[in-house]
Amino acid sequence: MPTALLGNLTPSQFMRRYWQKKPLLIRQAIPNVEAPLSREEFFELADQDEVEARLITHFRNKWQLEHGPFAPDELPSLKQRAWTLLVQGVDLYDDRARALLDRFRFVPDARLDDLMISYATDGGGVGPHFDSYDVFLLQVKGKRRWRISAQKDLTLQAGLPLKVLQNFHAEQEWLLEPGDMLYLPPHIAHDGIAEGECMTCSIGFRAPSASELTAQFLYHLAERGEAAGHAGALYRDPQQPAVERPAELPAALVERVGAILAGIKWKEQDIASFLGTYLSEPKPSVVFDPPQRPLDEARFISQASKSGIRLDRKTNLLYNRRFFFINGEETSFDGAKKWLFDLADHRCMSAKRFVTLSHDSSVTARLHEWYCAGWIQVGELA
Ligand code: SIN
Ligand code: CO
Repeated sequence: MPTALLGNLTPSQFMRRYWQKKPLLIRQAIPNVEAPLSREEFFELADQDEVEARLITHFRNKWQLEHGPFAPDELPSLKQRAWTLLVQGVDLYDDRARALLDRFRFVPDARLDDLMISYATDGGGVGPHFDSYDVFLLQVKGKRRWRISAQKDLTLQAGLPLKVLQNFHAEQEWLLEPGDMLYLPPHIAHDGIAEGECMTCSIGFRAPSASELTAQFLYHLAERGEAAGHAGALYRDPQQPAVERPAELPAALVERVGAILAGIKWKEQDIASFLGTYLSEPKPSVVFDPPQRPLDEARFISQASKSGIRLDRKTNLLYNRRFFFINGEETSFDGAKKWLFDLADHRCMSAKRFVTLSHDSSVTARLHEWYCAGWIQVGELA
């Protein structure tokens, strides 16, 4: 269906025409939008140890970057111009932020990264730069002037603590008001400057590099002892003669290791299994909050039969035809798992649906286990 979120395009039209291709300005993508967090709540979040917060200042024409956490008295005064505070992964800490991110699930979860929020005082911004990822920049409070360019020259200024373009030549510019949104594909140069105090949400995507994928995949194979038949074998050299040049790397060693590496083999399912576990792995800072006094299985079933269940906002649940992957763990199917596909796709299960499944003890036992781990919560989303 056409949606205001995408300027009255359907998600399919948006993906075909704009995704990874060209910028799109969407006026009133979310009319009457509210910032997921108030300024005070946002500052409180930036003061927490596990949160990834950055402070970027542009005082007296000098860019500076500091990493959080920031106690309230460590932030510049609200009257001071040209500073911005950014917090990554706000969806992990707040259900409203998670709900906002969920509006973008017309893109596969495997590609969705996080919701970043920035707060800026008048004149604040992070400087003209480019990102390697797609981003939706949603204005949620106050105004920000965005200038963008498809320029080829992406040379960065040397010696700065952040990525700022050396030569930025804006081709288009807009003043975004609350509810307006700008979609940018990777490598479009952009510069957003607050006009008065403002807050912007960045819905960001992930696209691991080929080298990151290769390294992680080989690690995955090695960890499972699946790297050919040689995985457990120790290097042996019964034919090694005594040497006169001990520092020299033996040619036979290179040859032997070459043979081990040439023996690395994998099947298509290994790739899916790697991607599922790698992409559903929670970020290193994530800690789940198991219930303090968990309901036993019978009470869990009775509660969930009344209120339904939902995935915790930090839970990642992906699936393919043969496996599902929850928070970095892989499990194979033992039968059709429509309930699981639906739970993964909707991130919640109604009480009614739960009741129809509650006679199957393998389902309830698994869901109870996830509940005890803090991976799912009783109750549907408000
Ligand atoms: C910001 O919100 O200030 C920066 C977001 C971005 O340019 O990617
Ligand atoms: Co950017």
